[in-house]
Amino acid sequence: MTIDDDIVLRTRDGVTELIVNGVFAMDSAEVSSELALADACLPARRVLVGGLGLGYTAARLLDGGVQHIRVVELSAALVATARAGATEQLGRLASNPRVELVVGDIADAVTPGWDAIALDVDNGPSFLIHDHNAALYGASFLARCLAALNPSGKLLVWCESPSPDLEVELRRLARDVRVIVVPVFRGERSFNYAIYVASSQA
Ligand SMILES: C[S@@+](CC[C@H](N)C(=O)[O-])C[C@H]1O[C@@H](n2cnc3c(N)ncnc32)[C@H](O)[C@@H]1O
Repeated sequence: MTIDDDIVLRTRDGVTELIVNGVFAMDSAEVSSELALADACLPARRVLVGGLGLGYTAARLLDGGVQHIRVVELSAALVATARAGATEQLGRLASNPRVELVVGDIADAVTPGWDAIALDVDNGPSFLIHDHNAALYGASFLARCLAALNPSGKLLVWCESPSPDLEVELRRLARDVRVIVVPVFRGERSFNYAIYVASSQA
């Protein structure tokens, strides 16, 4: 199903694929890193999520008891499709009062007061789907996110491979940084997805 010029949702053999800007973004067959991203936010009451995708991270937060999940998604068409119940999970998120779906660029949507901010909007600084997302991995935006966290809050950044430059930047800005590596096998290919977890400000 082509949703708009930018987004394609395709279901084959029971597996839903999300293609963004012509690039494979994710599928429903292997979501361990999307779930790990949510798990690393918990426990939390209020979480800001950048990127709806197929909704695995947000759904896991919901199941983990988070009271308010605001998901900021660039594609208005994807949000409309979620509200129309394109997949069971997206429909469940769209109709839950604890979930707020907002159309926008996360770059402009960071407000104060979050226990966690989870960014899964692109493949990471070394393999961008949208060039304009480069700024999301830069010092100025990362510092804004860290400043928007509640005391002991966490900023989490999903990357398709470890990113030493991002880690250096986060270590400069945050009090503490750890990296969760999630090994993933897709057929013959293997990947080490990386989730950076940075604790409030330095
Ligand atoms: C890989 S998917 C997110 C997967 C999600 N964690 C899940 O569990 O299904 C990335 C999403 O981020 C969205 N996106 C890309 N750039 C964005 C931006 N700057 N702000 C908000 N959303 C963005 C894409 O349209 C896509 O829906």
